[in-house]
Amino acid sequence: MTRVKILVPALLILTICSACRQDMHDQPRYKPQARNDFFPDMRSARLLIDGTVARGQLHEDSYFYTGKIGNNPGEVMPFSITHDVLERGQERYNIFCAPCHSRVGDGKGMIPSRGFSRMPPSYHIERLQKAPAGYYFDVITNGLGIMQGYSGQIPAKDRWAIIAYIRALQLSQKAGAADVPAGLNLPTALPKFEGDAPSGATLVTPAPPKKEEKKEGGVE
Ligand code: HEC
Repeated sequence: MTRVKILVPALLILTICSACRQDMHDQPRYKPQARNDFFPDMRSARLLIDGTVARGQLHEDSYFYTGKIGNNPGEVMPFSITHDVLERGQERYNIFCAPCHSRVGDGKGMIPSRGFSRMPPSYHIERLQKAPAGYYFDVITNGLGIMQGYSGQIPAKDRWAIIAYIRALQLSQKAGAADVPAGLNLPTALPKFEGDAPSGATLVTPAPPKKEEKKEGGVE
């Protein structure tokens, strides 16, 4: 009995005391955007000191990161277009752009076809054929109209690779027999196309799936 008499208050004291130290719960910190009277501008979130450059953020080559020369969009690619660059561009384009702009770039992608207030324009219209590469870079980086910018998802080098691929798409939709390199033959019969595309852009019809062979004794 006496044991219990000692134990109960001891436990009580223990429980009370364990909650006494609040340090771990109330750490000295500021909530985002909170006021701080220590600094004259009252901001707890401090601005970077002038000239500070975070690791990996020194964008010395401004054309590479903006597509602009002065205030004007430039036409040149900041690096040479190799087969690898085009393949990378194709892959990135098909991931990030084709859902809206379609694989051939006529603007009839799946997403806008399900209800968009504005359809993306075809890359094959004259205005966009003539638009400089730097203009595309700016649109991908910062967005335009109802299209969002993709600088967060697509690194600068990939944005340029996508532009190189868009140029290939533009060429493909206007190419004639003269554009076929010597030694390569044009297919005698044109592949079958489906769908209507006013830009002249079309997709190859996928081959119909093969019928599964009937298994002996199988139930239809
Ligand atoms: C979610 C759909 C969507 C995706 C994804 C998308 N776009 Fe667009 N894009 C649009 C729409 C819609 C417009 C038309 C914007 C407007 O006029 O308000 C547009 C416009 C454009 C234009 C035309 C600018 C002009 O002057 O008319 C370019 C170039 C372009 N997009 C490039 C791209 C590239 C490159 C990608 C991939 C990195 C991409 N877009 C991804 C929807 C999309």
